[in-house]
Amino acid sequence: MGQFENFYITTPIYYVNDKPHIGHAYTSLICDVTARFMKLAGKSVRFTTGTDEHGQKVEKAAKAKGMQPKEFTDEVSVSFRKLAELMNFQYGDFIRTTEERHKKAVIALWNRLEERKQIYLDSYSGWYSVRDEAFYQESELIDGKAPTGAEVEWVKEESYFFRLSNWQNKLLELYENQLNFIFPESRKNEVVSFVKSGLTDLSISRTSFNWGIKVPGNHKHVIYVWVDALTNYLTSVGFPNTEDEKYKRFLETDNSFNVHVIGKDILRFHAIYWPAILLAADLPLPKQIAVHGWWLNEGEKISKSLGSIIDPTGLAQEFGVDQLRYFLLREGSFGQDGNFSKKNMISRINSELANNIGNLVQRTISFLHKQCSGIVPAVDRNLLKSDESLPNCKAILDQVMDHLLKYEFNHIILLITNISSEANAYIDKSAPWTLSRTDRERMNLVIYKLLEYIRIIGTLLQPIIPKSAEMILDQLQIPREKRDLKSLCKTCVSLGVTLTKPTPIFLRFDVREEK
Ligand code: MSP
Repeated sequence: MGQFENFYITTPIYYVNDKPHIGHAYTSLICDVTARFMKLAGKSVRFTTGTDEHGQKVEKAAKAKGMQPKEFTDEVSVSFRKLAELMNFQYGDFIRTTEERHKKAVIALWNRLEERKQIYLDSYSGWYSVRDEAFYQESELIDGKAPTGAEVEWVKEESYFFRLSNWQNKLLELYENQLNFIFPESRKNEVVSFVKSGLTDLSISRTSFNWGIKVPGNHKHVIYVWVDALTNYLTSVGFPNTEDEKYKRFLETDNSFNVHVIGKDILRFHAIYWPAILLAADLPLPKQIAVHGWWLNEGEKISKSLGSIIDPTGLAQEFGVDQLRYFLLREGSFGQDGNFSKKNMISRINSELANNIGNLVQRTISFLHKQCSGIVPAVDRNLLKSDESLPNCKAILDQVMDHLLKYEFNHIILLITNISSEANAYIDKSAPWTLSRTDRERMNLVIYKLLEYIRIIGTLLQPIIPKSAEMILDQLQIPREKRDLKSLCKTCVSLGVTLTKPTPIFLRFDVREEK
């Protein structure tokens, strides 16, 4: 799999104009699961997230609450951090754009662009959307609104410009030559046709408000919030210190892979502006921009500004963190929009987690207690390899890794639930309750094989539902060092240990009252 040793994955940093919703939880979840899989595969991993705290939109939101921007962002940023902790996201860094280290990075990037003559002062007149924090050309407007449906206002002010138009051909070369730079392919096509239609220089400073990082040498201007925010991907690896160990390891070596995971709405900023800025500043580029679709609420767009929020905290409290993680990954198909429905969530929790995987664990370990007092029976492991063959781990692992590089978590989950269905069918077929009277040696073999099935399932589930997977592996007393993907294909359940009585891992929920 992936010919790299060092893996760097980032979430977008979230606007702090309001509370987090399910869409934010989803972007971060994709990163968390991928990062966890990469760690299990033995890679050196860096996973970062954070909050985007400057700009007009945040300034306006603070004003509406009668608060100072700093006081307001301190408060809202905490809610994103809390969500990350609640969802069990194992991030290594949480960047706030109001931090000193970040301001230093943004100013250093600006200076590099200026030194390379990539910035000039002029004046901007055109359309701006505060909700999108984006400039739009007249030709892009639809019925006087941004293509996203956001209100736009006419802006005329002195502004610094980035020479984006210089980079058109270099960008097209990048999309052409770097395999999967924009993933999936459909998004790449969208970007290529936009760039081919011609790039104009980008306004990268504003003078009509204050809440931002000041342009070095001209404090009338604040740096455009997107230039500020995108720089977080450099801040987190120590920029402007290009000697920083993280910078070298994750950006400069040939055996590193760095990916920015984003939603489809912020594609232009990541796939056009950011690589152009990096090319212009002569800094390393990301290897990939991975673009996911949107969650819709019963077909309707979910957005903070539009108010129809699905609260991930409430859902996690009601159904469990792992259950929410499971559902988003199982139901979402990377790159496509997904429909959020509580009813669907409950039905997947019940049928796939509780009735399939939970039931397998429960019935196997209960049987072990009934027949062997909970002691893993001594079996001839060679026999397992012959007529009692286990699932083809090597093939499963290859498929998991293949799907992982395409962010196909729903396929990974299907592989796992299939193993579980297979194991449940194996119980019925081999009828160990009959063997307990007729052939105890064979019964022992069946039990051992089932425990191994469960271990494989538990190991593969770790990145997806970490707490529950840990419970499963703890239940089997699998040593920590044998829970990685390298151990997947070895038989690891120890003979002769006594397992504790099973406690249900996945609860069932009542579906009747839900829509
Ligand atoms: N601050 C910018 C990103 C700067 S990154 C240098 C921003 N923030 S955001 O809070 O509005 O959105 C963050 C992420 O959440 C985006 O990837 C966006 O696509 C994602 N989502 C917001 N709503 C969503 C859904 N309804 N469904 C899935 N993801 C969605 O943009």
